[in-house]
Amino acid sequence: MPTGTFYIHTFGCQMNVHDSDQMAQLLSESGYVKTGEAEGADIIIINTCSVREKAAQKVYSQLGRFKELKQKNPGLIIGVAGCLAQEQGTRFFRKAPYLDLVIGTHNIHRLVKIIEEIKDRRSQIADTSFHPLVRSLGIRALPSPGSVSAFVTIMQGCNNFCSYCIVPYVRGREESRQSVDIIDEIRFIAENGIREVTLLGQNVNSYGATLTGDIDFPALLGLINEIDKVDRIRFTTSHPKDLLGDLAACFADLDKVCEHIHLPVQSGSDYVLKKMKRGYTVGEYLKKVDMLREVSPDISITSDMIVGFPGEKESDFQKTLDLMEKVRFDNTFSFRYCDRHGTASEGYEGKVEETVKQERLSRLQSLQERHSLERNRYLEGRVEEVLVEGASKGNSADIMGRTRGNKIVNFAGGTDLIGKTVRVKIVRAHMHSLRGELL
Ligand code: SAM
Ligand code: SF4
Ligand code: F3S
Repeated sequence: MPTGTFYIHTFGCQMNVHDSDQMAQLLSESGYVKTGEAEGADIIIINTCSVREKAAQKVYSQLGRFKELKQKNPGLIIGVAGCLAQEQGTRFFRKAPYLDLVIGTHNIHRLVKIIEEIKDRRSQIADTSFHPLVRSLGIRALPSPGSVSAFVTIMQGCNNFCSYCIVPYVRGREESRQSVDIIDEIRFIAENGIREVTLLGQNVNSYGATLTGDIDFPALLGLINEIDKVDRIRFTTSHPKDLLGDLAACFADLDKVCEHIHLPVQSGSDYVLKKMKRGYTVGEYLKKVDMLREVSPDISITSDMIVGFPGEKESDFQKTLDLMEKVRFDNTFSFRYCDRHGTASEGYEGKVEETVKQERLSRLQSLQERHSLERNRYLEGRVEEVLVEGASKGNSADIMGRTRGNKIVNFAGGTDLIGKTVRVKIVRAHMHSLRGELL
């Protein structure tokens, strides 16, 4: 059995966090021991993201720091995994010649074997091949001790090809997992202490589309709702074009499905949405928001926004602000548009100046801050169901948890409550969290 320690540094989205857990599981099962420090580790893996230029830059600067460790310890194995690794392939070796391993998004299951090969041959290895069936989808990561919440990947890849997005190129085509495997995995993690599951996919609403004779997403939620030890179900991301009434009804009909939906709109201008190839208009998006609020009046709605898409004029941007005024999102993640190599919008005309993008982003973010505070203040005086996750970050005498609407609440209480669902009265709203009192 191999011996040694490993350290994984993760960039990117929840999907990458989950992939890192799977890599850690595979390495641990093979005899390697996880460490929290890169210094002194025998293997370092950086799980990378390439969704925006800034995300890629962060990876390169992190790699530069690890290069010094390799100079001190030539036996150290340094690898890159994830979306930037998939995009760059062997070009990564030219950028960082001290790298030993480049492993793509479809080959995580081969990680340990590749590391052993590198050790035997002392040569660089890159594996970024795509497979119709992604074997790593089935790897079960044991929840880390004490955690009450876990991610479960229900599908891989994306078929939407929004014109700005690199994800379909680095994650491959959409592929759903068999529902029996998903249910088995959720039963397993629930037996191991998990109370809340977050189902992951780039477009969960189209779950099942690639499977013949299996169920669709609302039916999958129905089955998970029946699992005894699971208290809460969340999912991300929902694509507005595929959100239909039967999914909206789940928020009312299934008691464990939490009242929060991440429904990225990206822009409030029909002209921009069309160029983004999002497949819906502003009017259609607003109808879906109405449908959700009809079945679940207090549902929390969050979104992603892109400012400065090629061709976006001030009047288009103003329409984005108008849409935000109408919807009043609980939170948004907002980004300046940036070109990604190989995407359709890379070739679009009408690129917007960086200073203009920055100015629009600041305006959008201050509007969102106002709305976030307003939405949180609405909860003051109300009693919320909170799943306790752990000690509070700000004050060690406090504990923290989340409301069903996915808002962080800090309150006085003992750590014996971790994993329990309690009732908390909201006494004060902040922009990004709530203060509560345990009832
Ligand atoms: N599948 C999800 C969806 O459809 O909304 C999200 C995918 S992506 C990983 C997360 C977010 O990154 C997107 O919603 C978008 O706002 C942003 N994003 C993707 N490509 C971008 C680009 N080229 N420039 C700026 N932001 C981008
Ligand atoms: Fe990217 Fe669009 Fe797919 Fe989301 S739905 S991952 S934004 S291509
Ligand atoms: Fe996620 Fe970044 Fe890949 S956002 S899917 S890790 S490009």
